[in-house]
Amino acid sequence: MSTVPTPTPMPTTTRIDADGIARSIAAFAALSEPGAGVTRLGYSALEREAHAVFARHMRELGLEVRQDAAGNTIAEASGRRPGPAIGTGSHLDSVPQGGRYDGIAGVCAAMAVAEALRERPEPTNLPWRFVVFAAEEGARFGQACNGSRAAAGAVSQADLDRLVDATGTSMSAAMTEVGLAPREIETAAWLAEDWAAFIELHIEQGTVLEASSTRIGVVDAISGSSRLQVHLDGVASHTGGTPMHQRHDALVAAAECVLTCERVANDLSHHGTRVTVGRMDVLPGSITTIPGRVAFTVDVRDFDSERQRRTARMLDREFTAAAARRGVGYRSTVIGDTSPVVLPIGIVDTIAAKASELGYSYRLLPSGASHDAQQISRVTPTGMIFVPSIRGLSHVPEEATDPADIARGAEVLFASMLAIDEAHTSGGAGE
Ligand code: GLV
Ligand code: MN
Ligand code: MN
Repeated sequence: MSTVPTPTPMPTTTRIDADGIARSIAAFAALSEPGAGVTRLGYSALEREAHAVFARHMRELGLEVRQDAAGNTIAEASGRRPGPAIGTGSHLDSVPQGGRYDGIAGVCAAMAVAEALRERPEPTNLPWRFVVFAAEEGARFGQACNGSRAAAGAVSQADLDRLVDATGTSMSAAMTEVGLAPREIETAAWLAEDWAAFIELHIEQGTVLEASSTRIGVVDAISGSSRLQVHLDGVASHTGGTPMHQRHDALVAAAECVLTCERVANDLSHHGTRVTVGRMDVLPGSITTIPGRVAFTVDVRDFDSERQRRTARMLDREFTAAAARRGVGYRSTVIGDTSPVVLPIGIVDTIAAKASELGYSYRLLPSGASHDAQQISRVTPTGMIFVPSIRGLSHVPEEATDPADIARGAEVLFASMLAIDEAHTSGGAGE
């Protein structure tokens, strides 16, 4: 009589090793320009090197890896049947003198999920894709999320020629320099039918989780942003020889503009609006010369898309008036514009259920920062998992997250992706 082998039950939870996450974080942190923190700007040679490290690791795990025209790196593990795929990932570029975790945590979590997937005896139902998006930070070119925006089909060649960094290098020139093909940017667009869902893990970049001793954040909305580049043209002259009443000081006009930003954002009708002047260049930059030219950026963030755009327009009008009062020339351009999004409840519920099953405390919260998930939600149902930021600090060298928290987040990520995969067993729509 033959015996029927007992099927091995599939594990319902998978533990992810925090030490492995810590090692990956350290390996990426080593790829930085010299100086404080991590500097690895979008479309720089260092960003490409970091993508190559990811690609090598995923190839070693047996995944197919490709790079698209936008410089996104996509690794695929095939499933029992071809697409639509379930995806995860984040970015590897940083702001100048940024931290080790923003974006990188989500990439390391994706790598850990790919490793955990390889340990499973059975293939998944659907293909799983692990994505590193290019040039997520708006710090270099003003516009954020360039790789994911291209994946969402929202970037044209004209955009790549128009956006320039502080040295005047256009995004297309920067892309060409690192071997990418800006003229083929449209080929990077994803088709909705190729995707079932996408989940990005990211550090919170705020204090909500830490202050409430919560392990997992389930993001339900992502803030939008409108960005201006402002130029003020005054008259440079001798600081000793020019009486106060004869001046057209571009920096004093800029100071008035900065205070206008703070006043408008603090106005009662702007509860939740955040406005920041984060970069200012003053020329000629001499102690003994009245500033003749000032250029500065304005970043307006809001969860209300109508109010976000209205605020940017209102600031532009107030700046124009302040410059005119001081006899200073004024011009401005919109260098970035992203709408806020609400993430679909189906994915929010899946992540919350998996956090709860794993025994991790969780709470729903909105994201004040921009994310690749924001763009990808235009293509496929998308979710985000936040893990705690120590002291809420981000975009600075002191940015920190406990690798054990990233590992817990990766476990929730893996369990959520499996749940979506299982919902497709019988060709169901899943999320
Ligand atoms: C991305 O880091 C952003 O600036 O929101
Ligand atoms: Mn980020
Ligand atoms: Mn960032």
